[in-house]
Amino acid sequence: MSGAIIAIDGPAGSGKSTVARTLADALGWSFLDTGAMYRAVTVEALSRGVDVNDAGALAQLATSVVLTTTPRVTVNGRDVEDEIRTETINRAVSAVAANADVRRAMVRRQREWAAAQSAGTVVEGRDITTVVFPHATLKIYLTASLEERSRRRGDEDPASVARRDEVDSTRETSPLRRAEGATVIDTTGRTVEEVVGEIIECLNTQRSR
Ligand code: DC
Repeated sequence: MSGAIIAIDGPAGSGKSTVARTLADALGWSFLDTGAMYRAVTVEALSRGVDVNDAGALAQLATSVVLTTTPRVTVNGRDVEDEIRTETINRAVSAVAANADVRRAMVRRQREWAAAQSAGTVVEGRDITTVVFPHATLKIYLTASLEERSRRRGDEDPASVARRDEVDSTRETSPLRRAEGATVIDTTGRTVEEVVGEIIECLNTQRSR
C-alpha cells in the first residue's frame, strides 16, 4: 500500500491521536502525529531561550533541528516525549504553530516522511487534509462536543479548550477547517474501535469505487 494516505484533522480532544494510532496499527501502516512536531520545536526553542514570538529565530530553528516522532519524539537527539505534553508547552505551542516559516518547514518534512514509508500512512493534525495532503486517499474530519473534548483533555476547562479552538481555526496561516471532500465523524459517546471501524469502511468504499 505504498503511497496510500489517510489524512485526519480535527480540534483538540476530538480523538485524532488515539484513532489515528489505532487505525495505523490495524492496517499495518505508519503513523505520524504532526502536533508532536510543533511541540518538539517549541521544547527546543524554550530550552535554547529562543523567544517564540521571534519569527526569524524560530524559523531558523525549525529548519535546522533534527526531529523524530517514532518510536519516541526526539529533537536533536534528546528524548522529549514527556516534555512535549506539559502545560508550559501547551501554552507556547500555538505561537510556534502560527509561524508561516515554521509551518513550511514542517509541511516539507511531513511530505518527505510519507514519501519514505514503504506501507501506507495515517497522518493527523490540523492542516493535513487541507494543506499537507489535499489529495490523500481518504480525508477525515473528527469532531466531538466541547464537554467531551475537555473531559478527554484531563478535565481541562471547556473555556480554555474553546479558546485554543478559536486560535487554531482563526489564525491566518493554515487554519483548522473542514476540507472539501472530507468525511466528518462525530466521536462523541463512541469508542475508538467504532470510529476506527467506520474509517476502515470508508477506506474500503473509496477503494472499490
Ligand atoms: O494536536 P496537538 O494538540 O498535539 O497540537 C499541538 C499544537 O500544534 C496545536 O496548537 C495545534 C498545532 N498543530 C498545527 O497547527 N498543525 C498541525 N498539523 C498539528 C498541530
